[in-house]
Amino acid sequence: MTAMDEKPKRKEIAEGFAIKTWWQKGVIYQIYPLSFKDSNGDGLGDISGIIEKLDYLNDGTENSLGVDAIWLSPVNSSPMQDFGYDVSDYNNIDSVFGSMSNFRRLLDESHRRNIKVIMDLVVNHTSDQHPWFLESSSSKNNPKREWYIWKNGVNNKPPNNWQSCFGGPAWEYDSTTKEYYLHSFLKEQPDLNWRNPQVKQAIFDVIRFWLEMGVDGFRLDVVNYYFKDALLRNNPPKRPANLRDLIAGVIYSYAKHHHTYDKDQPEMFDLLKDMRELVDSYGEKLLLGEVGSDRNTEMATRYYGKNNDGLHLSFNFDFLHSPWNANSFKRIIMEWEKGLPSWAWPTYVLSNHDVVRHISRYCRGVNSEACAKVAISMLLTLHGTPVIYYGEEIGMKEGNIPKRLLKDPTGKRFWPLFQGRDGCRTPMQWDNSANAGFSNISPWLPVNRGYKTNNVKFQHDEPDSLLNTYRKLIWFRKKSPALTSGSLEFVNTNNGKVLGYKRITDNDFMTILLNFSEKEEAIQFSEEQKLSICLSLNSRRSGLIKSRILNMEPYEAIIAV
Ligand code: NOJ
Repeated sequence: MTAMDEKPKRKEIAEGFAIKTWWQKGVIYQIYPLSFKDSNGDGLGDISGIIEKLDYLNDGTENSLGVDAIWLSPVNSSPMQDFGYDVSDYNNIDSVFGSMSNFRRLLDESHRRNIKVIMDLVVNHTSDQHPWFLESSSSKNNPKREWYIWKNGVNNKPPNNWQSCFGGPAWEYDSTTKEYYLHSFLKEQPDLNWRNPQVKQAIFDVIRFWLEMGVDGFRLDVVNYYFKDALLRNNPPKRPANLRDLIAGVIYSYAKHHHTYDKDQPEMFDLLKDMRELVDSYGEKLLLGEVGSDRNTEMATRYYGKNNDGLHLSFNFDFLHSPWNANSFKRIIMEWEKGLPSWAWPTYVLSNHDVVRHISRYCRGVNSEACAKVAISMLLTLHGTPVIYYGEEIGMKEGNIPKRLLKDPTGKRFWPLFQGRDGCRTPMQWDNSANAGFSNISPWLPVNRGYKTNNVKFQHDEPDSLLNTYRKLIWFRKKSPALTSGSLEFVNTNNGKVLGYKRITDNDFMTILLNFSEKEEAIQFSEEQKLSICLSLNSRRSGLIKSRILNMEPYEAIIAV
């Protein structure tokens, strides 16, 4: 093995890298159910549509994408003010998506193909139409009053200075009971009071309900928001560090404060211990948390618990905000590797349903497909679980949605400064027929313009398409113990534009070299390398490299032994 130049932190191989669970070794694929496949011609994606496409996701052969798990954005009953992130019945499936029996079939059909199913658990808040909230808001004496966070105003103003993530005060006045209730998101999404043991019991029952049915895990929506300061103290103001911050604070009130008291409270860690114990009692299940914080790495890593007793996986969102630059990605990976306890397992993501699609974000549309190939070569070879977002495998771009067709409440609120999240939620592009094969009627969001040539069917037949690149990489990764389970050590390439690292197990290793630049880049190792190419992207390189110096082609990605 060649000498390693930089060692951020060597994980103990003895800990048994070979023995990994499905959620460590596998690739997770996020489905936004409203936009994946409409089976009943109402313009909205549904569960039967997902079942139709399971073979595309993994039919056990290299003709399919080969993903190991699907995470469904919420499918519970919901008035859809935030498209499912406002649940009105946790033990049911919204009729838009189908029925409970459709969901059971999805579980069976997925499991038959060795695909795990992860649900979205949205329990920081409910919908304001949830029977619990309807009761709670009916009178001050209602037994469910304390299930939510109610408080008197101060001089006809909200109880404190907390702001909603979606803009404006986080408190809504209720004229029936003459108190304010807290909502960290929309006013139609009142926050549950997790200090009330009855809330905990009710939600733990929900978790049991789905685990008993056979669900394989949960993505925990805004898991760091559940607890708020017991005294509901004001958040301290944030001094703008620059003009950008100043403007952000004017436009977006949430950015005006440090979020000292409205999230990330210490009580959360005890709750997570109990949740983890419950979930673990059902076998190899997954708790994958969304920890949204300004201090992402520090906070997100904390939620793994002190002693492997918190989340199994906590999203690292830093790639979502990274510029297209090898050093920036390297810094993020290095921080994560250093920040995590040795027993914890990282997870990486490039896109999701809340941010601009990465093909439109990185490289800003120039050489975007080449960029996307480098990005996915990285994601699928890092030490950690990759989560991919529907449509990224065909390079779906951020949709351009005219104002009159906007659906997302954040887009409606901040237009034209922020166009909201509809652009990353447009219908999946299956083929070049009307509505991109997503539906036989006009879908809930417009299909992206370029779908005639940018779709699954078209790319299926193109050997070098992005889709076939994803397939190749995923299936290659599956067979490589180093890529699925190995530790990570950086390789010094002596060139800031080229990211290099190795993945290592006791008896196996892989070298990964990624040129982030649109130009040819020369790299120089500290000693001669013997690299046998397994996969090369954006170039036709093959065979053996035996040299200290290597000229990498623009956006070239190499995976070698
Ligand atoms: C985070 C989810 O990712 C986002 O889509 C949703 O709007 C908020 N949580 C509120 O549930």
